[in-house]
Amino acid sequence: MKGVILAGGLGSRLHPLTKITNKHLLPVYDRPMIHYPLLTLVDAGIRDILIVTGGNHAGEFLRLLGNGREFGLEDIAYTYQEGEGGIADALSLARHFADGEKIVVILGDNIIEGDIRRPVTAFREQPRGARILLKKVPDPSRFGVPEMRDGRIVSIEEKPKLAKSEYAVVGIYMYDAAVFDIISSLKPSARNELEITDVNNHDLARGELRHDLLEGWWTDAGTFESLFRASMLVRERMIEKLTARIG
Ligand code: DAU
Repeated sequence: MKGVILAGGLGSRLHPLTKITNKHLLPVYDRPMIHYPLLTLVDAGIRDILIVTGGNHAGEFLRLLGNGREFGLEDIAYTYQEGEGGIADALSLARHFADGEKIVVILGDNIIEGDIRRPVTAFREQPRGARILLKKVPDPSRFGVPEMRDGRIVSIEEKPKLAKSEYAVVGIYMYDAAVFDIISSLKPSARNELEITDVNNHDLARGELRHDLLEGWWTDAGTFESLFRASMLVRERMIEKLTARIG
């Protein structure tokens, strides 16, 4: 299984910080943001990784990560998204890289406490379709929100005014090769983006979307509040680990 990190977009919600660098290179406690999704994929045993970047500072990713030796990788593939056409638009650039294999996709601003080994293993065994992760959050309207019935997802709405559940769709998605044909069939949303939520609703309509609940905390880091929170959570996790080691 291959991995794709989506780190395009212009990060306009973080202006002026993102005027002089890419959002995913900003610090989250002691590391640049992009390290976290990269470590999440590597921890799940994924070695073949593509980074989709964009904007004015794409070259800095190469300078920071190189071939990924620091992460135990042999190399990293890079590609460039023109403009800010949405998450599904950025993902469409991974078609050639995926080359018919299943992929695990992670948004470059998503940080988790634990790991995704279990859902990735489950997806390896899943014959086809897609798999997403859900997390209970206090502010679901900021995210993709599933409507649930008897433990099953019946639909997903992107940033609804009134959330139909307490769950958010986490920015970690698993797809088979059919995802690229689904993206080709999409029309831009009202905010002029190709929406990942539309991709997931397609899989749902075909009866091919499964889900797991993510264990441990999860945060994005795309707003000032969530960026700050991400640093706090990472710091706490580090202190807990150190304390546990010292006894
Ligand atoms: O964090 C999870 C949420 O991420 C999901 O619950 C939502 O369903 C999903 O739409 C997304 O919502 P956001 O509004 O938070 O996405 P944002 O535009 O902040 O983009 C998140 C990451 O996706 C960003 O850090 C880089 C990548 N991206 C985004 C866009 C718009 C790209 O690579 N290219 C793009 O054009």
